[in-house]
Amino acid sequence: MTGRPEGDHRSRETHAFHRGDWKPESKIQRLGAGEPLPEWVVRLDRTAFGVAWKAPAEHEALWLLPEVAFARWACIPAAGEAELLRIAVDPAHRGQSLGRLLLEACQRDLEAEGLTHLYLEVRVSNQAAIQLYRACGWKPCGLRPGYYPDGEDAALYQRG
Ligand SMILES: CC(C)(COP(=O)(O)OP(=O)(O)OC[C@H]1O[C@@H](n2cnc3c(N)ncnc32)[C@H](O)[C@@H]1OP(=O)(O)O)[C@@H](O)C(=O)NCCC(=O)NCCS
Repeated sequence: MTGRPEGDHRSRETHAFHRGDWKPESKIQRLGAGEPLPEWVVRLDRTAFGVAWKAPAEHEALWLLPEVAFARWACIPAAGEAELLRIAVDPAHRGQSLGRLLLEACQRDLEAEGLTHLYLEVRVSNQAAIQLYRACGWKPCGLRPGYYPDGEDAALYQRG
């Protein structure tokens, strides 16, 4: 009994990903500026956002859970700031706490490097992402009306 409400997006089966010896946190890798993007990242980027971005530019970094999830950040070390640009989990692996695991790993690494002011913007309709950010300690800090090309508002969140 998980205590989750009926209709919860996470099934018992999806939690099988966490059984056995597979320790996803030990698989997380980091990709820096100019390093080529693995093909699976390009595919997942396109699946999740429609358009895949190029290899990380200067001051950008990606955290990868290979074949499953990525998070892309823009870092401003001089200001102690970083912005979460994109985070995506493969649709087959969503609802298994892997987004949370990856985001928490990014936060730990960034904060250990002195990047303690973290920011992001998210579509107000993207409840999955908003719940993830709230679960990871992010707080709402503003709204950009009509920010997206289709007119949807962006909610701003910060951590630290
Ligand atoms: C947003 C996204 C990364 C979440 O990844 P995930 O691995 O499925 O999320 P998790 O399983 O780690 O869930 C983390 C928290 O968010 C909540 N959550 C996740 N998906 C949810 C959903 N569909 N509806 C409601 N809450 C949800 C969970 O309740 C969980 O909180 P809890 O641990 O307190 O229960 C994933 O849905 C995704 O890739 N979406 C498409 C890309 C996208 O929109 N990215 C964000 C904008 S850049």
